[in-house]
Parts: sequence; structure tokens; C-alpha cells
Amino acid sequence: MMYKQKPVVLVADRESDATKGLIAFLRQHDLEVIWARDGESAFNAIDQTPIDCLVAELRVPRIDGMALLRRARERNPEVCGVVITEGAEIEKAVEAMRQGAYDFQMKPLNLEKLLAVLQRGLSHQALAARVAEMAGQLDERLGLERLTGRSRAVQRVTDQVRAIASTRATALIEGETGTGKGLVAQAIHQNSPRKHERFVWVNCGALAEGVIESELFGHERGAFTGATATRRGRFEMADGGTLFLDEVGEISPAVQVKLLRVIQDRAFERVGGTETMKTDVRLIAATNRDLAADVKAGRFREDLFYRLSVVRIQMPPLRERREDIPLMVEQFIREFDREHGRKVTGITRGVLDRLMRHAWPGNVRELKNTIEGMVVFAEGKRPLDLSDLPDALREVETGGETLAVTVGMTVEEAERQLLAATLRHTGQDKPRAAAMLGIGLRTLYRKIKQYSIH
Ligand SMILES: Nc1ncnc2c1ncn2[C@@H]1O[C@H](COP(=O)(O)OP(=O)(O)OP(=O)(O)O)[C@@H](O)[C@H]1O
Ligand SMILES: [Mg+2]
Repeated sequence: MMYKQKPVVLVADRESDATKGLIAFLRQHDLEVIWARDGESAFNAIDQTPIDCLVAELRVPRIDGMALLRRARERNPEVCGVVITEGAEIEKAVEAMRQGAYDFQMKPLNLEKLLAVLQRGLSHQALAARVAEMAGQLDERLGLERLTGRSRAVQRVTDQVRAIASTRATALIEGETGTGKGLVAQAIHQNSPRKHERFVWVNCGALAEGVIESELFGHERGAFTGATATRRGRFEMADGGTLFLDEVGEISPAVQVKLLRVIQDRAFERVGGTETMKTDVRLIAATNRDLAADVKAGRFREDLFYRLSVVRIQMPPLRERREDIPLMVEQFIREFDREHGRKVTGITRGVLDRLMRHAWPGNVRELKNTIEGMVVFAEGKRPLDLSDLPDALREVETGGETLAVTVGMTVEEAERQLLAATLRHTGQDKPRAAAMLGIGLRTLYRKIKQYSIH
């Protein structure tokens, strides 16, 4: 986007005192005015100069003001177009609005009013430019930004990603399912000099043994039954970019050999082909298996393992970085609010406690899905509370903390402690606390007041 000293207004109207008055007025208000007396010169002006605003009489001689507006919007989608009508042309004016005009005004013109519309349009344009600029900046940082978490473990991963992104080093990302391996692979690509090239993803685990070789390396026509045409493989598609081999531990020994060759020589042949193809890809691999153990057991080639794991990135399971949960929950709520048009404002302490105690065998993916489910079902503007928890998370709820009741204590004191602890446990969910305590809600309220529990 270009920034000019003065915004440019194209006035398309025939010569008259009113038109001259309009132009003088706009110039007085710090706008640069180009005057086109007919359609042809208006079109020329649009093609030659970037126009910020267009003020067009609907019946400019020899051309349709509507066509003018269309052309101006083609050149600058944010152009502030105002159409001027002679009075009884409301229908045409409405049509112009439908086509993206900002406003329409009738003759005789109210100059102040027109100026206000133009100024509004211009500030809208400035805002749109600023938003586009910010979106661009966000995009650049996106890869790492989305890796939420402040735990040492996540910070370590982020540091590693930063350190290796600019290199061509092969990286092996290890971790349980749902820990964010795919996200990290993308982050490496996004932060690398190859970010404008392709990021090609192959899920080795999902491809049948016989298919994977031709998927990766392509095949020549007639290489096998069914190979009716020559096909490019993923290594060719990713040339210049990044190739992400997900679940690399699943590939067969035969393909392991070919893979080793590409890494070492940056060369390969298509299945059934004799021509040696050169490729320049940055390889990233991921696995949720213990590949080192597979190497020991003879299931995975040791030389390939070392080639792949020039850099090893370990994604810790979520249960080992529970301190990241609150931040993730907050982010996921915001994300799913937007996605599903909900207005969830946050989460109560009690639910968060519950989420922080859960084991999360499915890691971040499971947490994310859980939050999505809760947000989708939450109506209205309120925080997520215990009633939103899915059953699976509710059932395992245990008694919580143990209280020390000692002889010498009054019944009141013991009761006070139990009430306070139960309220803490339910996240101040009083109906739930009353149910757990086996007393009525009204009784609970009375006792809360009596013991001044907060
Ligand atoms: N640190 C994180 N911050 C935000 N979102 C995350 C984070 N880690 C993972 N996610 C999200 O969790 C989901 C699972 O992540 P991802 O698919 O990368 O996991 P994975 O390790 O590749 O799992 P699998 O082995 O099952 O393929 C994705 O939606 C991802 O965006
Ligand atoms: Mg994955």
C-alpha cells in the first residue's frame, strides 16, 4: 500500500459553477482533486493515478457513472465512491450502493456533508491498510505464536525451532500423539527461508506399503499395473520447500534405503524410471514411537535414524507441563468462540482445577477437543463452569483434599472447614456443593453467611 501526502479525489462531472465550487471546496480541505469532465477522461485518470475517492455524477456525458465506479473499485477495492444524482434517480443510486458505492447525494450538494462522507471513507481505508499490514506481520510470526505455552519444555522447543529454522538441517520430532508435532514441523517451515515455497506433508503411517514408494518418489508410466501415467512424487513437489514425513517409523526397510539415498545424495529415481532426479528439500520427520528402541530391535535402520535426527526435538506430554493448560484453555476458548459464534468469557477456577488434574492421554489435541465441545454447548455470555464438563471428565472426580479434624475442635469449626473445602472443590458451584454435602441449597447459603465463608 502506498502512502501519499494528500488523498486523491476524482471528480467526474460536467462543467458548471456547482462543479467548480465543489472542486475549490475539496482543495481547501487538503484533498488533491482531479477533474474529469467526461467519462473518457475519468477512465484515463483511474488508469493512470491511484484514486482514493471518486465523486461521480451518475450521468457523466458519454459514460455511465456506474461503470466508472466499477472500474475504480477494480483498481482500489477500498475506494470511497460517492454518486451524485439529479434528484429523481433514487433507484439508480441504490443500485450504485449495491455495487459498492459508499454513499449517494442529490443535487444541489451539501458540501459539508459530502466532505464528512469522504473523510469517513478515507479513515476506513487507513484502517483497512493498517489491518492488512498487521495481518501480514501476524502471519510471519504465526508459526511460533501458535505454539502456546510458557513451560520450560515449550520454551525449549521454541528455542530449538528458532535456532534451526534458518538451516537446512533435518529434524526429528518425537512425542506422543497430540503433543503438537505437526505444529512444530509447520513452525520450522514458516520460520525458514523456504517459507514461501511448499510445505508438503506425507503421513507415512496412513499409506499402504506398496503405495508409499511411488507416493514419495513418483513413478513412470507403466512402472506397475495401474500406472497409466507418469506421476510426480512428493519429493519433486516439495523441491525448494519442506517435506514433512509424519510417522516416519512406519516405513518399510526397502523405502528406508531409498530415503537414506535421497538424504545423502539429494537424488532419486522415480519408480520404474532410470533418470536420476535432483531435489532440494528440507526434511522434517516425526514419530510417536521410540525410534531409538526400534533401531536397537532392528526394525529401523540405524544410519537413517542418525541422518534424520541431526536435530531431535522432544515434545513432552501435556501431563508433564500442566502449567501450560490455563493459557491454552484461554486461547482455545477465544478461538472456538470466534469459530462457533459463542460468547464464552472464560472458565471458572473449579473447572480449570479439574482440567489441570486430568491425565490427558490424548495430550493437547484432547484438551482442544474438550474445550471445543464445551464452548459449542455453552449458550450466552458466561464462563465455562462444572456443568459444562463432559461426563468423562466429571466421573473421575474424587473426593479432593483431605481435612484434618482433631479432637478439641467444635462441630461448627469442623463444619466450616468442610463447607469451605467443598466450595473450593466445586469452584464455588453452590448447587453442586450442596448436593455433595447432602444439604439443601438454602441451608448452604445460610451456613456460608453464618460462617462468613468467601
Ligand atoms: N503448544 C500448542 N499450542 C496450541 N495448540 C497446540 C499446541 N500443541 C498442539 N496444539 C494443537 O493440538 C492439536 C494436535 O497437534 P498436532 O496435530 O501437531 O499433534 P501431533 O503430535 O502431530 O499428533 P499425532 O501424533 O497424533 O499426529 C492441533 O490442533 C494443534 O494445533
Ligand atoms: Mg501429527
